[in-house]
Amino acid sequence: MAQLSKGSSRIYGEAAFEILAKAQELEKKGTNILHFEIGEPDMETPLNVVEAGIKAIKDNKTHYVPSIGIPELRKAVQNEIEKTRGYRPDLEQIVITPGLKPGIFFSMLSIVNPGDEVIYQDPSYPTYGSVTSFLGAKGILIPLLEENDFRMNPDDIKKRINNKTKLIVINSPQNPTGSVLTKNEIMEIAEIAEENDIYIISDEIYSKMTYETTHYTPTMRDEAKDRTVLLDGFSKYYAMTGWRLGYMVTPIEMANRLQDFLVSAISCTTSFTQWAGIEALTGDQTFITDMMKRFLTKRDRIVNGLNSISGFNCLSPKGAFYVFPNIKNTEMTSEKCANYLLNKAGVAVLPGTAFGPGGEGYLRFSYANSIGNIDEAIDRIKQLFE
Ligand SMILES: Cc1ncc(COP(=O)(O)O)c(C=O)c1O
Repeated sequence: MAQLSKGSSRIYGEAAFEILAKAQELEKKGTNILHFEIGEPDMETPLNVVEAGIKAIKDNKTHYVPSIGIPELRKAVQNEIEKTRGYRPDLEQIVITPGLKPGIFFSMLSIVNPGDEVIYQDPSYPTYGSVTSFLGAKGILIPLLEENDFRMNPDDIKKRINNKTKLIVINSPQNPTGSVLTKNEIMEIAEIAEENDIYIISDEIYSKMTYETTHYTPTMRDEAKDRTVLLDGFSKYYAMTGWRLGYMVTPIEMANRLQDFLVSAISCTTSFTQWAGIEALTGDQTFITDMMKRFLTKRDRIVNGLNSISGFNCLSPKGAFYVFPNIKNTEMTSEKCANYLLNKAGVAVLPGTAFGPGGEGYLRFSYANSIGNIDEAIDRIKQLFE
């Protein structure tokens, strides 16, 4: 019998898509489902961006383009990094990818060897662990504690570093907890990486999605020239999840390698979405301010609502559009509680364990939904726990 590769048995998927399938199955049978499991904004892509994409298609910008990205978008990203991160990377450091996720995949492929150790947060976005395991490396989990507002403690990183440590993956604002690392914490992590000669991948997909606080990047320390890699993209704050567009700022040597990964895997990122991306970065930015105003109202509504339910305890996160309530007093496991909410109340959420063992005792709600649906979900859950 032919055998699949060993790596293919080690890579894994995302519970969000499994829960979505279960919820859709119930919907087919006539159950009214309120969706809080999906990690994407509930707004449409801004019209100016859509029109730029359509114009690019009509202008026949529909052919192969450089695998590393079109120069016009790479220049727009260069300006964007200068504006938002305070340093101007060289053009050669900028790589365009079809969404941020391939940026995680290809940068990990170019950094990590089998047997290496990769440090990341627990709970965290499942891709980091999946790719670590695929590569035959060992995941070293840093617990995110509710007592510390789910922020990673740099001392916990220090304690776990040894001569096998190759990479630290950080994500701030964070999925699933919504936590945002402080400038000091970010700089401390960057220093630890420098002292120990370790790479950092910084997943900054929620960089423009903070409340009452500012986003910082570890790439400020070396301007992504030596060991830090910045990943960001258009999916979340431009509501462009389906366009598949992201970018990386990396050391030049790595960008050159990534170019070959991209040639081998995808040839290039879709040409016309890149033109839409230029419009997103250089056009009117009020879309983001408006979206964040609305998200702030929704965050406060869901946090207050969840805290009014017996057995639930919810912090007020400073970023992204997720809340991560503690449900330990319900005396159910995360998995059981998520299934209970889906089957008995028609409220689809993710168990905290979908993001690692540290998520036990928590649920993740994505509040990219209407105020009406948030209120309705809270009412339905409250009735279950009265
Ligand atoms: C932390 C994090 N990184 C990356 C992604 C994926 O981004 P993209 O859709 O641009 O690949 C997500 C999406 O949920 C995410 O939460």
